[in-house]
Amino acid sequence: MSAKTLRPVAIAGTGKYLPEKVLTNEDLQRMVDTSDAWITERTGIRSRRIAADDEATSDLAIKAGRDALENAGVKAEDLDLIIVATVTPDMAFPATACFVQKALGAPKATCFDVSAACSGFLYGMELARQFISTGSAQKALVIGADKLSAIIDWSDRNTCVLFGDGAGAAVLQPAGEGTGEILSAYSGSNGMLDEILNVPGGGSRNPLTAENIGQKTNTMKMSGREVYRHAVTTMMSAAKEAIARSGLTPDDIECFIPHQANLRIIETIADKLHVPMERFFVNLQDYGNTSAAAVAIALDEAQRSGRIKRGDHILMVVFGGGLTWASAVVRW
Ligand code: ACO
Repeated sequence: MSAKTLRPVAIAGTGKYLPEKVLTNEDLQRMVDTSDAWITERTGIRSRRIAADDEATSDLAIKAGRDALENAGVKAEDLDLIIVATVTPDMAFPATACFVQKALGAPKATCFDVSAACSGFLYGMELARQFISTGSAQKALVIGADKLSAIIDWSDRNTCVLFGDGAGAAVLQPAGEGTGEILSAYSGSNGMLDEILNVPGGGSRNPLTAENIGQKTNTMKMSGREVYRHAVTTMMSAAKEAIARSGLTPDDIECFIPHQANLRIIETIADKLHVPMERFFVNLQDYGNTSAAAVAIALDEAQRSGRIKRGDHILMVVFGGGLTWASAVVRW
């Protein structure tokens, strides 16, 4: 199919799932040397959700996926594609997307996972858009899901206060009359910066052994200040790029939905883009940083709360470990 015949693609519906257990800043004060004031002032986060011990990433993903299918009015059996973006898969393999397929009953779907840390949902959305626009798929379910609590060192105050568990999802299909459309997408990576945010152990480079298990190499390590600096610059340029590719300007965007990592990062971006904070959707105070799920959960909450309406232009922009970043402009 030539570029001229590529089909426009729309988001037909969204969904989310957050585990029941709430972990507040006050709870964390009892676990590590921190305070509600420090966490609130430095990050904006007040609480986060933590999955139950017997709840795996696929359990979160399945619930968010069902919610999105219902919202879109699409049947699981009609899905051609299921993509799960996650860095906390249930197992090394099968892909978490295969567990979702099994639970939802989507026998026609091709299923695989995407690993791009917090950027994963938008990477997955762009993949699905390309499958649909070339005619390889009709209906796709894209899920961002992470159980970061499984890879957090709960004695490390530098990281444990920042993250939470959750899942968000979207159903994509060809755009039609009266639907919205994904207008542009952009993404990038910088593997040179792999060391500022990673989980060094538990993979083939540094498997867990009886000898090294006490060193917690299978938990997240982060140079917070470095990540912060790159987050601001990459999200800024990614936001500008997707807006430019859509033919719009920041003034045309009714709702900005950024990665939900730190309120200060979002405020800096708003300031640099000369966009008032009222046009940014923020829910990190309730959920913390839920990695691949964050922007998808925010999108779902923004549309269900009426914050975005049919015809509005929205910008999603994310960054994460890798480093990775991505952005998209959608006419709702
Ligand atoms: N409670 C109290 N004090 C703390 C805590 C805590 N939870 N964490 C760190 N501190 C201390 C530090 O030890 C440091 O003390 P020192 O000056 O005596 O050494 C002091 O607070 C200041 O630390 P900074 O790192 O300078 O604090 P900063 O203002 O940069 O905030 C933060 C830290 C919140 C981590 C910030 O750098 C940040 O948000 N970075 C980006 C993190 C991020 O978004 N990561 C996710 C990436 S997405 C993904 O793919 C998973």
